[in-house]
Amino acid sequence: MTVVNRYLEGQMAPVADEVTAFDLPVSGAIPTELEGRWLRNGPNPIAVADPSRHHWFGGDGMVHAVRLRGGRAEWYRNRYVRADKVATMLGETPPAGPAFGGRTETGPNTNVGGFAGRSWALVEGGGTPVELTYELDTIGRNDFDGTLPAAFSAHPKLDPETGELHAMTYSWPDLVDRLQYVVVDRDGRVTKVVDIPVSDMPMVHDISITPNHAVIYDLSVTVRFDLLEQGFQLPVGWNPDHPSRIGLLPRSGSADDIVWCEVEQCFLFHPLNAYERDDGHVVIDVCRYENLFVDDVLGPFSVDSPPTLDRWTIDPVSRKVHEERIDDRAHEFPRHDPRVGLREHRFGYTATVGYEGPSLHGSIYKTDYRTGALTEHDFGAGRGGAEPVFVPRDGSTGEDDGWVMVLVHDAATDGAELHIIDAIDFASPAVAVIDLPQRVPIGFHGNWVGDDSVPPA
Ligand SMILES: [Fe+2]
Repeated sequence: MTVVNRYLEGQMAPVADEVTAFDLPVSGAIPTELEGRWLRNGPNPIAVADPSRHHWFGGDGMVHAVRLRGGRAEWYRNRYVRADKVATMLGETPPAGPAFGGRTETGPNTNVGGFAGRSWALVEGGGTPVELTYELDTIGRNDFDGTLPAAFSAHPKLDPETGELHAMTYSWPDLVDRLQYVVVDRDGRVTKVVDIPVSDMPMVHDISITPNHAVIYDLSVTVRFDLLEQGFQLPVGWNPDHPSRIGLLPRSGSADDIVWCEVEQCFLFHPLNAYERDDGHVVIDVCRYENLFVDDVLGPFSVDSPPTLDRWTIDPVSRKVHEERIDDRAHEFPRHDPRVGLREHRFGYTATVGYEGPSLHGSIYKTDYRTGALTEHDFGAGRGGAEPVFVPRDGSTGEDDGWVMVLVHDAATDGAELHIIDAIDFASPAVAVIDLPQRVPIGFHGNWVGDDSVPPA
């Protein structure tokens, strides 16, 4: 069989049904203090007009959730994030709510989490955040109650000190010549927007924040007009003529105050944590691509440029960046203990990616940045773990005292499981394995949302 688009095949193929299942089978013991929902968003195209031009990042959003309480996996649900196309095909009324740039076709497909007591599905590039109910029904597009002027991001960063969300946003073709730095207060209202002039329309997937800086990733993947003319759904690609640079924007400043620092040409989707040293240098751990979207313009996983685990140390005075390789293996979907956000972290968790085996994913890793030790959790042949979400144990203070929640894809059974791993005893088998009632297509990001953060309606 000829594969037209590998991002629509095998473990990445969409699922057809919205399923509700109760009392899921569990092996082991779910920690009883975990009360809330594990959420994950990803593309699940309900229809594809031209598979040869379909980009993985362009599929209709679908959120999967597992609700835990009292040591039980009470329910699983998966629901499309409603937008015009999905609603029309399901015979429903399209959702209401403001849409920047008139973008109502596809629902946010990239991240999902809780903030300001509500549940949100998020995407970059201009789509308005969509508010969901506790049980994943779409409430509607929500521009933070009328306070968001334009685009948002799938990767806002929470400042644990202030409770604010910080996002670096962009939108094509509505904001052709700039990014926008957006701050949302703990009540869910935008309080700050800073325009940042850029050229070539770079793809800016994420942000880092430190106590004093918002970090801008102006790297070498940009809009490519040749792809646009050829009808590609998401016309972005490697641009060797666009230098890679990092900007340090003072959190209280404007675009004129940005300290720009060149790095070796590269791209990254995701930083791990960032922090400032006592000498003012900024340290960022990243999953760095030597290049991206060179031959494969339908998705990110060319086998010739696996993302490596690197550390960047930025001197804001000299504007020099010391680039250091931590590990040569492929690392993506980095996570850390949210309690150490903006301060020096010791541990990071990543998932490997690559197209050599039967699955996009394989082992997950725990990196100890203090000792240099790297611990692998191997799920066995044909099985791969996705984004490893760290959840602190109630009342604990140790940075790795908690659990890693990870979706495991099984190529042999075409099934999916949610594993809960003791992060201190990272290499050992999971303390609990929850069988999900259907395959979950390989997708993007999610979070653990405790009921103390977003209570059941
Ligand atoms: Fe991402």
